Formats: sequence, structure tokens, C-alpha cells
Amino acid sequence: MLIQPVYQPEVNAMTANPAQSPFRTSLLEENDGPGTNRSENPTMGEVISRRFSRRGFLQGSLAVSAIAATVSPMALMLADEARAQSASAFSFKEVEAGIDENHHVAEGYDADVLLRWGDPIFADAPEFDPANQTPEAQVKQFGYNSDYVGFIPLEGASDHGLLVVNHEYTNEHLMFPGIVTVKDGKIEIAPADEKRVAIEMAAHGGSIVEIRRVDGKWQVVRDGTMNRRITATTEMELTGPAAGHDRLKTNADPSGTKVLGTINNCAGGVTPWGTYIMAEENFHGYFGGQLPEGHPEVVNYERLGAPDETYAWFNFHDRFDLSKEPNEPNRFGWIVEVDPLDPNSTPKKRTALGRFKHEGAESIVAQDGRVVFYLGDDERFDYVYKFVTAGTYNPDDRAANMDLLDEGTLYVAKFEEDGTMEWLPLVHGQGPLTAENGFNSQADVVIEVRRAGDLLGATKMDRPEDVQPNGVNGKVYVMLTNNTKRTDDQVDAANPRAENAFGHIIEIAEDGGDFAATKGRWEVLLKCGDPSVAEVGASFSTETTKNGWFGMPDNCAIDSVGRLWVATDGNSPSDTGRTDGLWAVDTEGEARGTSKLFFRVPVGAELCGPLFTPDDETAFVAVQHPGDGGEDWDGFGRPSYYEDLSTRWPDFRDDMPVRPAVVAITKQGGGKIGA
Ligand code: FEO
Ligand code: CA
Ligand code: CA
Repeated sequence: MLIQPVYQPEVNAMTANPAQSPFRTSLLEENDGPGTNRSENPTMGEVISRRFSRRGFLQGSLAVSAIAATVSPMALMLADEARAQSASAFSFKEVEAGIDENHHVAEGYDADVLLRWGDPIFADAPEFDPANQTPEAQVKQFGYNSDYVGFIPLEGASDHGLLVVNHEYTNEHLMFPGIVTVKDGKIEIAPADEKRVAIEMAAHGGSIVEIRRVDGKWQVVRDGTMNRRITATTEMELTGPAAGHDRLKTNADPSGTKVLGTINNCAGGVTPWGTYIMAEENFHGYFGGQLPEGHPEVVNYERLGAPDETYAWFNFHDRFDLSKEPNEPNRFGWIVEVDPLDPNSTPKKRTALGRFKHEGAESIVAQDGRVVFYLGDDERFDYVYKFVTAGTYNPDDRAANMDLLDEGTLYVAKFEEDGTMEWLPLVHGQGPLTAENGFNSQADVVIEVRRAGDLLGATKMDRPEDVQPNGVNGKVYVMLTNNTKRTDDQVDAANPRAENAFGHIIEIAEDGGDFAATKGRWEVLLKCGDPSVAEVGASFSTETTKNGWFGMPDNCAIDSVGRLWVATDGNSPSDTGRTDGLWAVDTEGEARGTSKLFFRVPVGAELCGPLFTPDDETAFVAVQHPGDGGEDWDGFGRPSYYEDLSTRWPDFRDDMPVRPAVVAITKQGGGKIGA
């Protein structure tokens, strides 16, 4: 039996402009993409295949899944009970996997909604009125589709700090009343007008919100002096090797150093010096129009899939129209750094970290004080990167760290068949990165990082999402969501998943335990999917219950004792029979590869964010695009939109639409999560 892996709602063909199509998640994140890697570099699947075929992979982890495939329900039940005595680092009673309108958390925990789309985050912000939303209101309210969640303690406290949250994108059919009609069971969305676009632009970006824990419960400090909204129109500065380059100059900005806004901010990071990183991911969807005939950026943009016209912004803002501002796409796809302690600071797009579809930027201080940022480029067949700062981190002088991200070395990962790996420097003048290949300076290298990676022979990965260093065990965890486009000739018999529908997780050990090293070793920690279906080839430990397995790892977090928590994007009724959620995954000892479900989201949502406070007493999670879908869920069975929603989470009020939100999970009576 082959499982039909990916939920692909039929997008209405009548919407001539894809900007009027629902299901942005599919269009952008499941990007089959216009962005294409045509290089001959081997895929990760090919590398894994060759490696494990040589090592007798069938006697290895595949055998575990083959055994799991034959066990009876009774044996699975006994395994459930045996888990209590297992070597797992986690002790909580697992949530039952499933699908319904609400979220669910492990017994003994509270999952409280802290910040919802539309919540006022300034003293003078209007209350949320979804039927009469305005751009002016939205810019003072919490944005849509939260993704990255970071916590910046104030005065070192775990119960008082700044929550920094990315708002990745908008779902118009869930946000706006009166714009959807249903014909033949399919959604049609009315074309966007200027006001709707302005609301969308104000709902993108990020929020910085002061929060405080009082009597065990988190509260928003609505008049917090550092509270801030960053949107698609906030003025930003371009810094680093590409700043001021001709390829970044536009009619509105002849200096090539000033840009308005940040878009599609997926995951991100908080630096050791307490700045907030927003990663620009699927920026191609915001551009429309055609490049002027013979324009030199054709190849550059094609590699990234721009323009894609997912959104209608280009109809109202010339900068998103390639026929009018052909260089504007070169000003997006960067890592953005924000100083959250100064609400008037200008966010900086740090071009030294390269331009691609950045998933996130988690960092760690290496042995010699340099700071290492791990970066995923979320597209099928694209690459894993890291950036090592040239300067060193000064823990006693915050100001001295504020421009560390302007100088350093960007590397792309090459995974070898023998379990070693190399980080290849993307440095102008080295190897093929020369004028002969169109790279006249480091500016050209960072603007066209993907093409540079192609030339260096980087390994094509299965949609790299979060890449997370673990300061406790010294390893690095790479979430690879899936890649259904991999064909038979890109894998071999030892790797049974010609289509990697459910993704996998790779664990890297840098040489000498040094995160700044240029070589390392790698292992597959997990191949995801249902371990009871042999054809899936999943490799969860046999202690993993029917609730504990998952597909499509996306974001992740490491808690203060070094345990791995994985959030997913893409589990649904028709592929895995469960919603997305947060899973606790053992990485050490006998329990390695055991996964347990801790929290699950309402129908239609993915889970983002996961983030632990320094004391591990709170886990913040972002419930993104709840209610986006419902056709394949027996409990609803039809398209979901503003007037007819598969869930009205979290308010469950007839006069309130579904609202993406950040949830704070705490243990009843206090204590560390999962301990
Ligand atoms: Fe926005 Fe790669 O997820
Ligand atoms: Ca993601
Ligand atoms: Ca995602």
C-alpha cells in the first residue's frame, strides 16, 4: 500500500491570478516550484542511498521499520505500556493523535492562548473588529500566521521578557468577510483591492511584545515601551557585502541601501547578544509583472521562482512589479536583524548571510568566540548553510556585537557517502566563484548564493527547514520536511522512499565538537512517517507508539537540558490521519529515535515556533493557519473560509473568525516541561 502523501487541495482554476487563490500554504511552502535547481549535484537521498547500501542498510535502521511493520496491535499496546519503564528523557503522558477543532496538550499541562491575530499590542490600539478591519488598526495589532517565536528575557528573568514573533503570510479566505463564493464545492476569492492589500501588508512582518508571568499565567504588557510592529512597509537598511551594489538599486532607492519592509518571515532566531532575527523565506510570491526584455536578472530570479504573483500587491505597489522595478527582488530573501530593545531602531538586512529562501537562523557561540548561524534554504533540492562571523562575541559589551553579522564566511554543506561532510566556503575568487562564472565580487556571490552552491557541488536536500545547534550534546539537527519530487532515478533500492513524502532529520557532529569547524560527520536520526507501514520506511524506535510518530518535521527547539522537540507542518487527515503538533524526540542512549506527542493543533493548522524559556517552565508555540482546510476531515468535509470555518479556534464565537495564535504551555502547579 502506498500512502498518498501530500494533501493538495484543488485550487480553483477560475482564479486567473493566483493572488486570488486560497491555500497559500500549498502554493508557497509546498512550492513545487518555480524555483528550480538544475545543477547535477547529487541529492541527499542519493547520498544516503549509496552510504547505507554500502553499509548494509537493510540490516540497519530499515530493519527496525520492517519489524515495526509486522507487529500486531496487541504488541503495540504492550509497547505503549512498556514505555513507562523506557530510557526516555521525557516523562509525560502522551496525547492521542487525531483531528478535531481544538488543540490538545499532555495531561497535567495548560495550553493558554497568549496572543491572537488582531490582539491590540499598544495602549492606544483598537480592539479587534474583524468585520471592519483597517490597515491603521492592523498595524497596532498582532499580525497573522505566527511562525518564529523567540523570548528575550528582561533582566535575565524567565518570567518577564520580550516575545518576538514572525508573521509569515496571510490567508485572505480566512481573514476577510464577504470575499469568498463557493462554486461546485470550490472556493473563489474576489480580487484584492488596495485596502485589502494594505491590511495584508500590515499583518505581515513581526511583533515585539513585552510579556510577564503573574501567578503562573502569562500576560501581555500592552503598554510595554518596547512593543513594536514590523511590517511589509517598515524602513530597513541593507548592510554587508551587497549593500549599495548596482543590483540592489531601484528608482525609489538609488543608494541600494534602503528598503521598505520584510516579507514571508518564516522561522528566525535570537542572537547571543539579544537581537531578533527574521528570516525572509518565500518572497517570490509577492512579485508580479515581467522583467524587461533581455534583463540580466532572468537566471537569478528563475532559480528563486520569482515572479510568482501569489499575492496581488504588485497591482498597487510598483516596487513589486518587475516591469517597473526589476531589481526589487534582489532586496528580499535576506536575514533581517532587529534590535528589540530600541523600538526606533532600523532593522538591518544582513547580506553577508546570503539571499535565498531562508527558513531560520539559529546560532551558537563556537569555542573560539566566533558565532555560528545555521541556515536552511527551504525548497526541494536546495541546500543547508552556515555562517561563521569573522569577529568574536563579547558577552560584556552588547554594542560591540551589533554588527558581527556584516563580516564572516558563508558555507554550504556537502554530505559525503561515508558519513563525513564538508562546509564549502562561498567566497568570491575561490574555486569557481569568479568573474568567469558571473561572480564579480562577494556581492554577486551573496545575491546568487544558490547558483554559487550549485557550482561548488553542494548536496541537494529535501527541503531544509530549521537547522538547530544543540549546545548540550554538541550536535546540530537538520529538519528536512519532505520532497515528493525526488524521482526513482535519484534514489536506489537501499532507500525505499523514491518520494520522500514524510521527511527526515539529520544529526551533524562537527569535527572536534567545534561549531565553527569546516568538516563534520552526519547520521540520519529519523526517517519520518508511519512505522507500521513497511513501504514508508520510517525509522522511529519500536517504543514509539501509534501516537508518537509524525511526518514533515519543520521547526524544532532544544530545551536547556539538550532535549529535542520537533514541530511539524503537513500532517493532515488524508496523509497521516493526524494534525500537526509538537513531538518530544529522544536523541540519546537506548531511547534514541523514540518520539512522543506532547501537543497537537486544531484542524488545518501547522505548528511553528517551539521555544522554551530559559527555566524550561514554559514552551511557547505558534498555531499557524488554523482552519485552512477541512475538506479531507470527516468532521467538516467541505472548503473552509471566513463564513463557514472548519474551526473557530481559539475563541469559538460565531462573531469571530479563526485566529492564528501563540500559545503558552505550562505545567499545572509549576515545574519543568516534560520532566
Ligand atoms: Fe515557512 Fe519553510 O516554512
Ligand atoms: Ca517552516
Ligand atoms: Ca512550514
